[in-house]
Amino acid sequence: MAFDVDAIRDDFPILARMVNGKRIAYLDNAATTQKPAAVLDAMREYYENSNANAHRGGNALAEEATEIYENARKKVARFVGAAPSEIVFTRNTTEALNFAARFCAGQLGAKRILLTEMEHHSNIVNWQLAAKSAGASIGHVKMRSYGKLCNEDVEKQLEKRPGAFSFTHASNVLGTVNDADALCKMAREAGAFSVVDGAQSVPHMKVDVHEMGCDFFAFSAHKMLGPTGLGVLYVKKELADKLEPIFGGGGAIESVMLSGTTFARAPQKFEPGTQDVAGAVGLAAAIEYLEKVGMGAIEKRVEGLHKACIAGLKEVGGVHVHGNGEKTGIISFNVGRLHAHDIAQIASDDGVMLRAGHHCCQPLMKVLGASATARASFYLYNTEEEAQRLVTSVKRAKKVLS
Ligand code: ALA
Repeated sequence: MAFDVDAIRDDFPILARMVNGKRIAYLDNAATTQKPAAVLDAMREYYENSNANAHRGGNALAEEATEIYENARKKVARFVGAAPSEIVFTRNTTEALNFAARFCAGQLGAKRILLTEMEHHSNIVNWQLAAKSAGASIGHVKMRSYGKLCNEDVEKQLEKRPGAFSFTHASNVLGTVNDADALCKMAREAGAFSVVDGAQSVPHMKVDVHEMGCDFFAFSAHKMLGPTGLGVLYVKKELADKLEPIFGGGGAIESVMLSGTTFARAPQKFEPGTQDVAGAVGLAAAIEYLEKVGMGAIEKRVEGLHKACIAGLKEVGGVHVHGNGEKTGIISFNVGRLHAHDIAQIASDDGVMLRAGHHCCQPLMKVLGASATARASFYLYNTEEEAQRLVTSVKRAKKVLS
């Protein structure tokens, strides 16, 4: 079936927005994606017809909300090849990675942590905090200048026997996709738990956490057409069964006495308090939408847009693209000595929405030798015409700012 981008665009009300008298070209999808009417309708329908507090039974509506919430969990689990009991809902990827760090450095006793130079701050600061309270040390795998992890360095660092190896599946700056299956295998063979940041990969490619062989895997609903405020932490069954909750409260317990508490089974024991049922409903609707279009078709579409945009940027001259984001639709670039924020501002004046800055990756920026980059990131509803508008804006920025 042909990819009908016009029909897809009609599903996203915000894409008709005008800024500065121009229709927006939304190219900031790595930051957050737009939401189709199907997601907005599903959440509205939940609040209008079924809203109640999940896992606090005793009335028909609460039971319905529980069923809706758990069905959403099943859908999420199936989407990433996990069992429902391995899926913990969090607020976002950052919170999920903070949990993983505290599980590894705290309860699982990792005394050395291995990270990489290409991590987002959410996969650096979490470990620094957890390592500090556990008295653990942290090492970093080096990156090749063209944006790939250095495999020899992974091997060398794993010889130091870290208890946990955490890395990004796809870089939010470079768009580069790391070979997560191989890295998890290497971690396993070295006796380290693997923690994978999947925030930028899950929206773009079929992920199967069991096949990957990771111990923890984190991602966010809002980067895959779902709502903000909901993240996911996959925790491998053996670990989910044995780990203790980090936060305590109602809904996560089996019984509470004044002398102590016994906890519910996973995943409920990791989800104290009233949960974001509407968010889970939104994520389930987003997954349905992505599956209807087809992950393979989305991948192909994004790759095509990336290719067209790179070809256009090459013609501008003086554009340096960092890494290779053809699988994730990410293009981070600098134009000569022009400041990335100025480029993004001029693009914004033209209605083209980019992100500029360090992208929450200051250590990676240091490796790239840049204080900031401009970043375009494509998704299924973007068009060749929007890619061309970006190229035209960059040309204009070069002329205005040089
Ligand atoms: N991590 C998101 C980004 O790269 C916010 O823009």
